[in-house]
Amino acid sequence: MSSDRPVHITDPVTAVAHANIALIKYWGKRSVEKNLPAVGSLSVTLDALKTETTVQFLPKGESDILMLGGVNATDEQTQKISRFTDLMAGSKRPPVRVESRNNFPTGAGLASSASGFAALAKALNAACSLGLNDRDLSIFARQGSGSAARSICGGFAEMHLGDDNSGEEDYAEQLYDEEYWDVRLLVAVVSQTPKKIGSTEGMNRTAETSPFYNAWMESSPNDIKEMKSALAARDFKKVGELSEHSAMKMHGLALSAHPSILYWQPGTVESIRKVWGLRERGIPAYITMDAGPQVKVLTLPDSCSDVKKALAACPGVTEVIEARPGPGAHLQTTN
Ligand code: PMV
Repeated sequence: MSSDRPVHITDPVTAVAHANIALIKYWGKRSVEKNLPAVGSLSVTLDALKTETTVQFLPKGESDILMLGGVNATDEQTQKISRFTDLMAGSKRPPVRVESRNNFPTGAGLASSASGFAALAKALNAACSLGLNDRDLSIFARQGSGSAARSICGGFAEMHLGDDNSGEEDYAEQLYDEEYWDVRLLVAVVSQTPKKIGSTEGMNRTAETSPFYNAWMESSPNDIKEMKSALAARDFKKVGELSEHSAMKMHGLALSAHPSILYWQPGTVESIRKVWGLRERGIPAYITMDAGPQVKVLTLPDSCSDVKKALAACPGVTEVIEARPGPGAHLQTTN
């Protein structure tokens, strides 16, 4: 699926997309080339972390330009965006200038690829007048980054696992919008150092070397099923337990790769123990983590300020960001 219809040079188009956090994790690819996940996943999109991306096609003869946070991107980053633009706009498209800004602290080690590719897909859809629906946008976003497929949707989303290799069935779909349930997600920032092993490399190494990889894949459909019923019942304890278990299973799996993959830093462990301590005192708080050291804590509005204070006091935690379920990717009407 790509467009070969002519792309006209128009005014700049800006789209906004928010980061999401998987409550049931995606880890592993069944096709690296097409970026097809090996397991389904389920996420919540976060209001506090967003990327704003402006796309403008340029006259022939110019080169593609990518600006990230006001700074020229590396050649490798620019090439990735050029390939993604070819995918959506067709290879005969004019050169493009893409400018992307995150509202979260740069270098905070928070994944921006999900919000970044979702915003870019949404902006290109408008700039090229492709008229794609959210399902098709999610399929495109997935090819930039697996988790980006979910940032097309607001609120709670399920990433479907296709049963063939076409990729047409691997897309995210909204389960509930952002008004459905006022849960809070606190991000404890514990390290600003870029991770050494990216998610693709980590997933591939895990699939090739972990003795537990098949068990991970086999247990995933049931995790998704249970999470969907817990969400339908707004059962916070169940949602929290399932989220924490999915994150721990994913990190345990990464540890069982050879050589081992460990994304944690000392502040990660401090934060986990702090949250477990809070829970022993009856405070509803559950952790989840992606391929990095930051700890994300799922809690409820009434406990949010206590959990935030406790995390902020943890050794190694430099900042705590508070988020709620947020909207899906959308165009920004005022430029
Ligand atoms: O979207 P990617 O390729 O960066 O992979 C994301 C993987 C995790 O964040 C660790 C889990 C997930 O489901 O988001």
